[in-house]
Amino acid sequence: LASIEVDVSSIEPGMSVTAKWRGKPIFIRNRTAKEIEEANAVALADLKDPVARNANLPPEAAATDIDRSAGEGKENWIVMIGSCTHLGCVPLGQAGDFGGWFCPCHGSHYDTAGRIRKGPAPENLAVPTFSFISDTVIKIG
Ligand code: FES
Repeated sequence: LASIEVDVSSIEPGMSVTAKWRGKPIFIRNRTAKEIEEANAVALADLKDPVARNANLPPEAAATDIDRSAGEGKENWIVMIGSCTHLGCVPLGQAGDFGGWFCPCHGSHYDTAGRIRKGPAPENLAVPTFSFISDTVIKIG
């Protein structure tokens, strides 16, 4: 199957699920207001990778919180391929120095917008092609 549909209606703020798409884990997290605030407070100049890495946006889009998220009105949702951009391990959620994701293989820390903040990974976690096809269902791919 080229695409999958995930019902996210039961994912409360602060919770996440991992779906599977094309053999890869897909992290879907409903971020809290505090997590969004923390990501928004980071200056782009402080990011190791200032590019959004969001397949739904132009390649040059900046790694602002809104452009890492599902966008205007849905900024609480973040959808990413769960593969560390260092060597492809699966990072752990709600972990690491920045409260986002932590890759235990070699210690990469990602923030609540999935942006690499510390450790050997070169890029932000990739955002796959996805869209909300209703208020509560995300289509990935
Ligand atoms: Fe994640 Fe190396 S694979 S830090």
